[in-house]
Amino acid sequence: MVVAESEARFKRIADSAPAMIWVSDAEGRVIFANRYYETVLGAPAATMLGDGWQRAVLPEDLPSFYTSFMTAFAARRSFRVEIRFVHKDGEARWYRCAGAPRYDSVDRFLGFTGCNLDISEGKRAAEELRRNELRFRAISESMPQIVWSSLPDGRIDYFNQRWTEYTGQSGADAVENWPQMIHAGDRARTQQAWQASLETGETYEIEYRLRRHDGVYRWSLARALPVYDEISGQILRWFGTCTDIEDQVAARQALARSQEELERVVSERTAALQSANEQLRKEIAEREHAEEALRQAQKMEAIGQLTGGVAHDFNNLLTVISGNLERLLRRLDDDEPDLARIRIAAEHAMRGSKRAAELTERLLSFARRQPLRPRPVDTTQLVMGMVDLLQRTLGEQIQLKTEVDDDVWPATVDANHLESAMLNLAVNARDAMPDGGVLTVSLSNQTVEATGSADVDPDMAPGEYVRLCISDTGTGMSQETRAHAFDPFFTTKEIGAGTGFGLSQVYGFLKQSRGGITLKSQMGEGTEICLFLPRSREDPKELSTGGLGATPALAEKAGDGTILVVEDDEDVRRHSTTLLAEMGYRVLEAGDGEGALALLRDNTDVDLLFTDVGLPGGLNGRALAERAIGERPDLRVLFTSAYAHEVFKSEDNLGRRADILAKPFDSALLAGRLATLLAEEPPVAKRSEPARAPVILLVEDEMLISMLATELLEELGLGVETATNAAQAMDVLAQDPGRFDVVMIDIGLPDRHGGELAEDVRALRPEVPIIFASGRSSSELEETYRHDQMIGVVSKPYDGRALAAKLSELGVAVRSVAPF
Ligand SMILES: Nc1ncnc2c1ncn2[C@@H]1O[C@H](COP(=O)(O)OP(=O)(O)OP(=O)(O)O)[C@@H](O)[C@H]1O
Ligand SMILES: [Mg+2]
Repeated sequence: MVVAESEARFKRIADSAPAMIWVSDAEGRVIFANRYYETVLGAPAATMLGDGWQRAVLPEDLPSFYTSFMTAFAARRSFRVEIRFVHKDGEARWYRCAGAPRYDSVDRFLGFTGCNLDISEGKRAAEELRRNELRFRAISESMPQIVWSSLPDGRIDYFNQRWTEYTGQSGADAVENWPQMIHAGDRARTQQAWQASLETGETYEIEYRLRRHDGVYRWSLARALPVYDEISGQILRWFGTCTDIEDQVAARQALARSQEELERVVSERTAALQSANEQLRKEIAEREHAEEALRQAQKMEAIGQLTGGVAHDFNNLLTVISGNLERLLRRLDDDEPDLARIRIAAEHAMRGSKRAAELTERLLSFARRQPLRPRPVDTTQLVMGMVDLLQRTLGEQIQLKTEVDDDVWPATVDANHLESAMLNLAVNARDAMPDGGVLTVSLSNQTVEATGSADVDPDMAPGEYVRLCISDTGTGMSQETRAHAFDPFFTTKEIGAGTGFGLSQVYGFLKQSRGGITLKSQMGEGTEICLFLPRSREDPKELSTGGLGATPALAEKAGDGTILVVEDDEDVRRHSTTLLAEMGYRVLEAGDGEGALALLRDNTDVDLLFTDVGLPGGLNGRALAERAIGERPDLRVLFTSAYAHEVFKSEDNLGRRADILAKPFDSALLAGRLATLLAEEPPVAKRSEPARAPVILLVEDEMLISMLATELLEELGLGVETATNAAQAMDVLAQDPGRFDVVMIDIGLPDRHGGELAEDVRALRPEVPIIFASGRSSSELEETYRHDQMIGVVSKPYDGRALAAKLSELGVAVRSVAPF
């Protein structure tokens, strides 16, 4: 009863189990199969008894079952075997069969009890896993990269073949020692990154140098991703790759280098460009400066030409006007009351003409045509001698300072004009300092190395100069004022307060004196004007004690002697002769040079030749004087000129027995000069006849140029004859072809081209050299006649030096030009 009950309980439990439960007897036949058999196999459990169950097993699995079972049966041991049962739906499913022997209470073998568990699902999963694994391996082996995997703790458990190929490591060696393949310098960094990814689960990505089997390190990119368990979310493994990026890194580095290189080149180029630009700007500025200076010089030159021309004609007229007024006044000296009004009128007229004369003098001085008497001057003495006068001019509100260097050179300059220039500048400075200030006069030596040197007048030739600066602390000049300060008539002063001639006069004076002038001025910062005077190599003569504006004293005593007046302007001549006669001189007169020479020969008692510089008919005043002195060495000469262009030089061989008087002159000046000249001792030895001066035929249609050239040429010691066109020139030549030693031809003549005239001249006198004067660019002409030894070219405007140089080149003897 108890047995039956426990059997029933066993059956109940067994039937409720989700697995096949069976019991066999000692012969191996099944004696119990639970309900599960029926549930899955579809046949009643009873049909399983004995060998019945075998029909539900896949036949090919039976042998392996028997092998396990029989072995266990014989040994009375447990067994375990996996076989497939075919379910009722026809599906064969895996079961793990586990059996264990059973015994009774006296250890008699009773058979087996067993349990068959459906393991199909597990089997399938394992199979899937295996297949996946195989697939992964296949893929990873087929990849060109190194592929690896690791356990969640970071231990590597797989490398594909590439690793071995690359590093030479394999198997356990690779798994354990892979970190040694990483460059020592990259190891710590790599370890850190790997650790960080393991901790956070974030993608692992790092570049490091990986050692190849041959010891070469190449850059590699290592990358790894975690694979998660879908259910738990735990990291199952890491899968990683290493990609050789050596080429990319090299390219990247090359790119970086070339980028750096590019940047360097760009910045170099930029700098070069910048400096080129800077240079260009500087050059442009310099050029503009030079152009400005040139424009200024040309403007001054043009104004100079104009004013010079006007002043010249004016002076001749004024000579007549004022001379006659003077005579009129002298006659009106008598105390006749009814003449008083006429006298007042005449006096007014005289004052007017004096002022007109002053104006023309200023014009001439700007035009660089004033009669200057440059002499070696002790500049220090001159400046110090001016201090009193300057201080008086400046007034008490202005302090006068002098800064005079030791051993300042003497300068070749007209002392009187220099004094008046200083006075002019001082007056300007005073006007610019209405509330007082400081005026500084400084004196020093200055050597100019090259033309266009900074800080000096660009016109100045290289050489040695005395620098005389006058600077004030006054208002200074605006840019506009600075640009025009040297222009004649330019003034910012009220009408009547300034004529605008001060600076232009100083300018002209310095230019005529072969010196220079600079002007520095800024609004509110005062003004500095520096005068550059050419150094003199000679010892300065004592300055006349009269100082500024001193004029020879009016000759009190009556004139004594015979004077020959040579003047082509009839009015002027008449005035001069009358004046001289009134002074008590015996007077002879001539209208040109030849007439004068004739008179001189007939009248050996002539003491003094009073001649105009510009005379018609080829023999001008200068040439006349030379010829006259050649014949009469004791003769004194007084030149007069309305236009005296550098007639005299300090070392002139006419010496103390000649002088010059600018037109218009008054009787006092004339008397003074005459008295001084006539008082000079006559020379002891008679001068020998000088060699015949070379004679030049000057063919020039422009009157003013012809006059200027004549003066220049005569200064060079040449006799000059002029013609105003080609026809006239040929006439003159035909008359006496042997007379001329050189011919100078203006290229632009009114009737013919200068070149054609030159050919005719050559036909007549092949041995005579020819100079072309050209107003336009002379370079073409120069090129044409470059190889012709007998032809020279000078371009207008030319000066004495240029002419002298050309003449000497052509073998014509000239007197040297003064060094100022
Ligand atoms: N030292 C100076 N400071 C400031 N401005 C000056 C100075 N010197 C000359 N100027 C300016 O230059 C102009 C021209 O000077 P310039 O001496 O030629 O003529 P002026 O003084 O006006 O008249 P003038 O000298 O004929 O009586 C002046 O009107 C003035 O504007
Ligand atoms: Mg002035």
